[in-house]
Amino acid sequence: MNFLLINGSPRTLGNTDRLLGAFLSAVPKENKVKRFDVCELSPAACNACGYCKASDGCSKKDLESFFGYYAEADVIIIATPVYNFTVPAPMKALLDRFQRFYEAKHRRGAKNVFPKPKKAILLVTAGGDGRVGYEIIKRQLETVLANADTEISASMLAGETDSRTLDQNDFAKAKDLIRYI
Ligand SMILES: Cc1cc2nc3c(=O)[nH]c(=O)nc-3n(C[C@H](O)[C@H](O)[C@H](O)COP(=O)(O)O)c2cc1C
Repeated sequence: MNFLLINGSPRTLGNTDRLLGAFLSAVPKENKVKRFDVCELSPAACNACGYCKASDGCSKKDLESFFGYYAEADVIIIATPVYNFTVPAPMKALLDRFQRFYEAKHRRGAKNVFPKPKKAILLVTAGGDGRVGYEIIKRQLETVLANADTEISASMLAGETDSRTLDQNDFAKAKDLIRYI
C-alpha cells in the first residue's frame, strides 16, 4: 500500500513528529511511504480566483507533486498540533486548496476525484487539554477529506504537552492506529 504522511508541525523532533514516528514504526516495511512537511511545502493560500469553479485543477501549480502522491495513496496520515483551536496556518492553507475537489463534486457533479478511495488516520497533539481543538480539526478534516474520496477511520489526541513529555502510552496508542487501515 502507498502511505502519504502529512505533517503539519514546523518542529523537527517535536511532539507531533515523535507521535508520527511512533505510528510509522508500526507500518510494515513492504509499504511505500511518502512524507510531506507542510511548513516546508508552504502551500500558496487559496485566493478564490474561481478557476476550480469552472475547470478541474487549480490555477496555482505548487501542489501538483503533492496531489500526484495523494492520487496514488491508499492511506493518508495527518499529524498536526492544535494552534488556536485549529491547525497551523500552512496546514490550513493546504486544506483550503482542497476546494478544487469540493467544486468538482458539488458544482460539476463528479462522483469521484481520484482513481481509488483512501482511508485516513489523524494524530493530534495539544499543549493544553486540546479536546475542543481536536474536535474542530476532526470536523474540518472529515468534510475536506470527504471531497477527496478520503474517510477518516481512526484518530487520537495527545494533550497536555505543555506540562508533560509524551510517553509510552501515547506512542502505543499511535502504533495501535495501524489496525484501522
Ligand atoms: C501558535 C501556537 C498556538 C497554540 N495553540 C494551542 C491551542 O489552542 N490549544 C492547545 O491545547 N495548545 C496550543 N498550542 C500548543 C501546541 O499545540 C503543543 O505545544 C503541541 O504539542 C506542539 O506540537 P509540536 O511539538 O509538534 O510543535 C499552541 C502552540 C503554538 C506555537
